[in-house]
Amino acid sequence: MNRDELLRELSEFLRIPSVSTLPVHNNDCRAAAEWVAAELRRLGGRDVELLGSETHPVVWGKGPDVPGAPTLVIYGHYDVQPPDPLAEWTTPPFAPSVRDGRIYGRGSADDKGQVFCLLKAVAASSRPPVNFRFLIEGEEEYGSKVLFDLLKREPQRVRADAVLVADMSYVAPGWPAVYSTLRGLCYAEITVRTSKTDLHSGEYGGAAPNAHEELGRLLTRLKGEDGRINIPGFYAPVKRPSKAELAAWKKLPFNEKDFLNKRVQGKGLVGLKKHSVLERLWALPTFEIHGILGGFTGEGAKTVIPAAATAKVSMRLVPNQKLKTVERQLAAAVKKLAPKHVTVSVRFLHGADPAQIKLDHPSFKLLDQAFKQVTGRGTVPARAGGSIPVVPALASAGAPVILTGIGLPDDRLHAPNEKLELKQLWDGIEVFRTFYELLGAQRDM
Ligand code: BES
Ligand code: MN
Ligand code: MN
Repeated sequence: MNRDELLRELSEFLRIPSVSTLPVHNNDCRAAAEWVAAELRRLGGRDVELLGSETHPVVWGKGPDVPGAPTLVIYGHYDVQPPDPLAEWTTPPFAPSVRDGRIYGRGSADDKGQVFCLLKAVAASSRPPVNFRFLIEGEEEYGSKVLFDLLKREPQRVRADAVLVADMSYVAPGWPAVYSTLRGLCYAEITVRTSKTDLHSGEYGGAAPNAHEELGRLLTRLKGEDGRINIPGFYAPVKRPSKAELAAWKKLPFNEKDFLNKRVQGKGLVGLKKHSVLERLWALPTFEIHGILGGFTGEGAKTVIPAAATAKVSMRLVPNQKLKTVERQLAAAVKKLAPKHVTVSVRFLHGADPAQIKLDHPSFKLLDQAFKQVTGRGTVPARAGGSIPVVPALASAGAPVILTGIGLPDDRLHAPNEKLELKQLWDGIEVFRTFYELLGAQRDM
């Protein structure tokens, strides 16, 4: 395969601004789905269909039948996160740019570049090695409702010997990984109201309650300075990783100082000090504030007491926590912690249960072998801090879900200047081609 040609094709895919959480991009999401469908047809895919939604369809397809060979579902997502803040991009998010051996653009690593890699690895296989099933969705970044509904109606779509998900990264350059857990997510808006309308801060200040102040206090009650989340029952189901797992993490090429200086690029880390940074990132739940709305934020000055304020927040959940339970716990905690003179409400936007995957199926060995052959190092077991909502549903027909990826930890997912290293892409195509062929050589898995 000609690399210039591949980069031209990938750029075409990345140029489509398929932001699933912004309705103005509905047509773009549809266009990205059609791009994927056309690519599947070029690969010789059969029964290629757009399912479940006009604007954010799931792209489905099958490879040629290979009697006796295993069936492999390839999962990925063509939707991306919003590109803002735009001013911080060196080149525009949807004008992909190749420089310094990388391709820059929204979706380059998460997840269009990796979907591209999985599909080009199919194209690179000598003859169809396995029975491919393709399931590429367009709503991963917004909770995967369309795909959840599809799998509820038609669970046989994920009946297979394995499901391959490439939507994560190596744990460090040169260190490919396979993941045993994903955190879940509970995304909510908390709104505080203190009066009917905004009030003059001279006439009323000193006696009338202020919505921003009340919201601020509520939020700091929900999570203390020590990083502990004060939601009754929240930590109860959380299990500590085993001693063996914690010891294995100590051997990973992860250094807390480098994480602070090179990745976070801040002045200090926070969180539960008793637990290692990896444990905080991978095995403990979180509470984060994403943004606060309300009051006066325009240019200049306005002396007003805001009547209402809203915080967008989310909690990452770890295995054994349940989205539905956490929703109830948050709503109850907010009610309990808010003073009588304010009205609070909580609205849930979307969420996901956490996922836990046993790494004992033979296909994990084959992936390890493929990475070893191509990159010189096999996969290390790790956990992931992020979420892929539909993973528990992908596992529901009993196939092992292989969570891996070709990105690097500094790819800046969801942030300005997202990129994918071209070496990772070229290696990745070889890795997955090798994996497909190794899997194809297995009979009666
Ligand atoms: N690819 C990520 C998930 C991910 C990132 C896993 C890093 C492991 C490491 C995925 O596209 C993502 O961003 N998911 C969202 C889901 C949410 C919006 C429901 C997330 O984790 O915020
Ligand atoms: Mn992703
Ligand atoms: Mn993402």
